[in-house]
Amino acid sequence: MKNILVIGSTGQIGSELTTELRKRYGGDHVVAGYIPGAEPKGELAEGGPSAIADVTNGEQLKEVASKYHIDTIYNLAALLSVVAEQKPRLAWRIGIDGLWNILEVARENKCAVFTPSSIGSFGPNTPHVGTPQDTIQRPRTIYGVSKVTTELISDYYFHKYGVDTRAVRFPGLISYVTPPGGGTTDYAVDIYYAAVRGEKFVCPIKEGTLMDMMYMPDGLHAAISLMEADPSRLIHRNAFNVAAMSFAPETIYAEIKKVIPDFQMVYDVDPLKQSIAESWPDSMDDSAARSEWDWKPQYDLPTMTKDMIEKLRVKLL
Ligand code: SER
Repeated sequence: MKNILVIGSTGQIGSELTTELRKRYGGDHVVAGYIPGAEPKGELAEGGPSAIADVTNGEQLKEVASKYHIDTIYNLAALLSVVAEQKPRLAWRIGIDGLWNILEVARENKCAVFTPSSIGSFGPNTPHVGTPQDTIQRPRTIYGVSKVTTELISDYYFHKYGVDTRAVRFPGLISYVTPPGGGTTDYAVDIYYAAVRGEKFVCPIKEGTLMDMMYMPDGLHAAISLMEADPSRLIHRNAFNVAAMSFAPETIYAEIKKVIPDFQMVYDVDPLKQSIAESWPDSMDDSAARSEWDWKPQYDLPTMTKDMIEKLRVKLL
């Protein structure tokens, strides 16, 4: 039986991943790790155990891992790309020093570890269209630098110590549950909130800027199915390209207008977000994930849009 620790359980991905893991493995087997000030509430607090698990505190992680007999860690502690540019030292402390602490606990306790990478691990010199699984990764954001380092250190622990590390490179994740905080792809979430609230949306990303995106149910499915995959089939580990859809602002706007015809969008381009977006792939090639662990997304832009609007109408109106 798996005993799982989710670090960052109250964040954008963690809040939904913890609930999904509890459905699959039982509430008692999934510990919601959090930092003070971001305590689990409601279903997250009630659905199973929770514990303070600050990645910058290695001793604390060790205690939690041994108390709950943890054998699998989903490490979702990170700053998103725009916030990380404002606090690069903190981004490194959480993303890399924190990961080091986790990998040490995993080595001692023989835990599997999932630490997401991102489209942000690519940079301006990366081939932008059909970005291959194995290609140039020279990001210029601290977010990207820490994601590439995450991939390398995770592979290092696998090859050197046999720690079962696996990861995907997530596209921008879109969800109606917990809003993202401070990412470049956040506009593709914010646009739905504006549309459902009947507000005009001010888009910070320039027309024509393509980025990979994914609906959260597919993101959760990617993480869990990779961690459950047969290790003998894995040629890659850290980290797999996973893709579901790629669009520019005008495309998502047009899709929302099919459901909410009065919806209006104007542009007020944010130079930092725009330069980050332009350095990322237009669309990734995820054939390695498809062949090594049968990755396949369920949602495209029209089906995601329909579901987002339905769910946000219930949540907001
Ligand atoms: N969603 C992230 C960001 O925009 C990218 O992985 O920072």
